[in-house]
Amino acid sequence: MVRIEQNVILKDYTTLQVGGPAEYFAVVTSEKELDEAVGHAQQEGLAVTVLGGGSNMLVSDEGVDGLVVKMDINPELVQEAGEGTVLVTAGAGMEFDDLVARSVQQGLWGLENLSHIPGSVGATPVQNVGAYGVEVKDVITHVRVYDTLARKFEVFTASECQFGYRDSFFKTPEGKHYVIVSVTYRLCQDPLPKLIYKDLAALFEGTKPALSEIRDAVIEIRSKKFPNWKTVGTAGSFFKNPIILREQFVKLQEQYPEMPYYEVDATRVKIPLAWILDKVLYLKGEGTTKVGQYAGQALVLINKGAATATEIAEHANSLTAKVKEKTGIDVQWEVTKIGF
Ligand code: EPU
Repeated sequence: MVRIEQNVILKDYTTLQVGGPAEYFAVVTSEKELDEAVGHAQQEGLAVTVLGGGSNMLVSDEGVDGLVVKMDINPELVQEAGEGTVLVTAGAGMEFDDLVARSVQQGLWGLENLSHIPGSVGATPVQNVGAYGVEVKDVITHVRVYDTLARKFEVFTASECQFGYRDSFFKTPEGKHYVIVSVTYRLCQDPLPKLIYKDLAALFEGTKPALSEIRDAVIEIRSKKFPNWKTVGTAGSFFKNPIILREQFVKLQEQYPEMPYYEVDATRVKIPLAWILDKVLYLKGEGTTKVGQYAGQALVLINKGAATATEIAEHANSLTAKVKEKTGIDVQWEVTKIGF
């Protein structure tokens, strides 16, 4: 029988290291326990909130009403071979980087560019995690989910997940009542290096890097840009990189000819917000005594130790206001707010 506790402080379950108590809290280690916990919540009329690795959320200081479920389902990896590819299924509670490390050791290509991303396997499809030229949508074939309203397990194909830039069906209002239980990735036994990202392209120009060399290079690049999430309160990129209309981009480019950009489609362009925070607003490494922009990467906010969720939210909102005032760009959080 799943154990349900009361008044559990959530701070220690989030990488930003803030957050008040969950009214009720359960760690679930199997599908059966998940269903039991949700059944209990339904009987008692409690809302259900799901926590994965807690690496992309800002939990309110007042805490969260209802039942918070911490996913700790870690089933064995199942591997099925076929046409040079292998399907790897991992439980939602597994640490994503353990999966990446294991795949690299086994000579399976596909996840290596996503090395050292904090968080759990189950969180990767929700925000379509991406880094260094790869997004999980490129390798996910399907996900197994649990519908917390109907109390049913289902399988969603990649297209049903409706992946977008740091976005998926699971972030929409209709998608909110599904919990990811396991994720299946299609990995490749033959070398398939993805070296489009400029730092990797420069490093490996004209060479054929081994799988482990790519993982090592990504870890090295990341270590310069991101603080260690095990010791410093952070949620990685706090904001999404804004996608703006080409007309707006052309006007901005007149003012800031150096501004980097990525093509999205015929009408839209994506701008690295870190560049605006750093080169336009001079805010890299700045902030208050409690919360600020990391000195290695301006898009990363850090909790300097004693910040509350309210202070982090206020600081983030002050940054988005400054960006709007200076450039006219609307910025969205990448981090999910919980309990606000
Ligand atoms: N830049 C600056 N100042 C900075 C940092 C960056 O001017 O302080 C400039 C860089 O020179 C570069 C551009 O901004 O031209 C982009 O920077 P970077 O390559 O570091 O990546 P990013 O756009 O800030 C995105 C993802 C990261 C991912 C990296 C690498 C988002 C919101 N962020 O950041 O993902 O690791 O690319 O692929 O898409 C995350 O989502 O949590 C995350 C960490």
